[in-house]
Amino acid sequence: MKQKTGQNLYKEAKKLIPGGTQLLSKRPEMFAPEIWPSYYSKAKGSKVFDLDNNEYIDMSIMGIGANILGYSDDDVDRAVINAVKNGVSSSLNCPEEVELAKILTTLHPWADMVRYARGGGEACAMAVRIARAKTKRDKVFFSGYHGWYDWYLAANISNSDMLDGQLMPGLDPNGVPRNLQGTAVPFHFNDIDELKHKSKGLEKEIAAIIVEPARGEDAPKDYLLALKNFSKEIGAVLIFDEITSGFRMCPGGLHIKYGINPDIAIFAKSIANGYAMAAVIGNEETMNAAQSTFISSTNWTERIGPVAAIATIQKYIESNVADRIIEVGSRVKDVWRDMSKKHGLPIKVSGLPTLGSFSFSTEMNQSMMTFFTVEMLKKGFLGWRQFKPSFAHSDRDIEKYSDAVDEIFQKISISDIKDILKTPEAHTGFSRLTKE
Ligand SMILES: Cc1ncc(COP(=O)(O)O)c(C=O)c1O
Repeated sequence: MKQKTGQNLYKEAKKLIPGGTQLLSKRPEMFAPEIWPSYYSKAKGSKVFDLDNNEYIDMSIMGIGANILGYSDDDVDRAVINAVKNGVSSSLNCPEEVELAKILTTLHPWADMVRYARGGGEACAMAVRIARAKTKRDKVFFSGYHGWYDWYLAANISNSDMLDGQLMPGLDPNGVPRNLQGTAVPFHFNDIDELKHKSKGLEKEIAAIIVEPARGEDAPKDYLLALKNFSKEIGAVLIFDEITSGFRMCPGGLHIKYGINPDIAIFAKSIANGYAMAAVIGNEETMNAAQSTFISSTNWTERIGPVAAIATIQKYIESNVADRIIEVGSRVKDVWRDMSKKHGLPIKVSGLPTLGSFSFSTEMNQSMMTFFTVEMLKKGFLGWRQFKPSFAHSDRDIEKYSDAVDEIFQKISISDIKDILKTPEAHTGFSRLTKE
């Protein structure tokens, strides 16, 4: 199997692009240093082709969760191609942004108004700005991951460990103005006591509480309700960041399933099946504050994003995509559990059915996971510790994957990992940014 072209290109990329890629989560070192194919020539359905024309079934991050319908979905692409033919920008606005606003506010009846961006991080920054403009307060309390912007990384200024326990520990706030110290305060998922304790005496300074409603596990019933009651009590804007949780368990935000409405919800990636699109939706009182500050950008008016989002959401609803991806994700979690039991190889399986992940229950986890990924490549899969299911994954894909997991778990269970791992270990955490 020739598989070198991607790695060679990546070596060039590292000299031309700081860090080699635009997204930490797509750095090849995260998966299998010196081995991961790194670049794709084509992606269709559940399959990805590398630069040497090797074909892989993607049983990993699936476009880091953006491609919920599968790669290059025909219906979404058709709508986009039609938009391209009719012009994707002009001096006038595209009507699709109004149509999409109607769809999003219909799916979320508590929301009255919508603004758009093209990236998740910038949509979070927009939501935080709106909350600060509405409340005329500065502080933001948060749990979970919300992108790369200053408001968020400010949490690490005073104490470089403060983001530990969130999704990406050790993020360096170098370049973030030190004056922002104390403006962003993290608390842990489902820890209302920590939120209340840390905010004691600061209640009148808190502009927003922003959380991912759920991700690594289901939200306990009273967690989101307690957040809602507390934010109301102190006059802060409650923001649900649904960039990863949205459109994964139901059409719209996960909060719909829990029956708790925020003041603002944020969507990105999966709403447009890989095309750049993000939306901030909210109640009228909160969203009107967007008019009291300056939030504006040329590329937020291009047409492809809204057109792709409309086509994606329509197909998602018509084809009952939520049920299928829950089924696919649950079956893959079962594959991990069953094969670990079969080979006496203890693992931990976690995550919502559509955001599943596993780890080997040993300190050799990272070596084993690297071996798993390397062996998966040999068998024609992009395989990793996470699996984000799509509508394009077939039953046959899962069956083939199950056989591959069976063989690889068996090999790991009967070997000393130090003897069988012949390549460098995958990077973790902040070392992903700094290791060469
Ligand atoms: C919950 C959440 N918020 C924000 C972001 C940042 O989005 P983007 O990478 O599009 O800037 C992500 C990305 O993974 C996310 O999962």
